[in-house]
Amino acid sequence: MYTIDSINQLRNHLWQAKLDHKIIAFVPTMGNLHEGHLQLIDRALEEADLVVASIFVNPLQFGPGEDFNGYPRTFMGDQEKLMSRGCHVLFAPTVDEMYPTTNVSSTVVKVPHLDQLLCGASRPGHFTGVATVVSKLFGIVQPDLAIFGLKDYQQFLVIKQLTNDLCLPVKIIGAPIARAESGLALSSRNGYLSEKELRQAAQLYGCLIACRVALESGETELLKLEEQAQCQLESAGFKRDYFKICRQSDLQPANIDDNELVIIAAVYLGKARLIDNIRFTLLL
Ligand code: PAJ
Repeated sequence: MYTIDSINQLRNHLWQAKLDHKIIAFVPTMGNLHEGHLQLIDRALEEADLVVASIFVNPLQFGPGEDFNGYPRTFMGDQEKLMSRGCHVLFAPTVDEMYPTTNVSSTVVKVPHLDQLLCGASRPGHFTGVATVVSKLFGIVQPDLAIFGLKDYQQFLVIKQLTNDLCLPVKIIGAPIARAESGLALSSRNGYLSEKELRQAAQLYGCLIACRVALESGETELLKLEEQAQCQLESAGFKRDYFKICRQSDLQPANIDDNELVIIAAVYLGKARLIDNIRFTLLL
């Protein structure tokens, strides 16, 4: 595996592969890799001839008071994991390489409406940071396809929309959520949790499942279900952010006649903010 930190070197490295019409898959990450990230690499290897991963903790997507400085950085271990999984190229630029300080009024990419909902409401500017860095990375790597985890379902929709709106020739693929045995979705931020909090955290998935079961048993009062779940989460020790039953297509609140649904939630536990979701077709 080649590890490259400069944009020009990466372009030179990928040039021959492009001339040879190799299919290039791209997996962007912020590092501190776990099995969920590595399954994206597996999927990329199935789809393409050449797999490029990136590790870049993107300052633009962290708000004031968020965990940019404390975000876990485990570069050597990450490099080994990517190598042993069969990744071909790791792009790991510095902040200066991605955002040169000479560039005082940089362009940003804003995905309207979607960026205001759910996580966007709790983390103002977050999705503009994500959309901007992903657009830049797409411009640098110029992949044929890119793999994103469905754990960050709102992020996935934001990327799909920006790719579509900007006519970028990149196919966006969503990969399933990797979970611990307890049901807890794997996340780099799970490392902020104590043993006890890790056990507690699994209840978030339990609440999503319970809500799905209630809908499948014919419950039609969606607001009541959401509020019940929030109360249950609070009594389990979480601090609430949101718990919503939405349409999969645009994350608008679901109506009783919608059937492509996502139950999506964010909570605070100890030092961590956890997100999770389940998507399903309601057949009644
Ligand atoms: P990061 O949180 O490192 O996640 C990188 C990719 O891994 C994302 O596509 C995310 O959805 C996926 N992922 C994380 N946990 C997962 C899990 N349990 N199962 C499946 N996929 C999972 O998301 C980001 O970084 C950044 O916002 C980024 C897109 C790199 C832009 O900076």
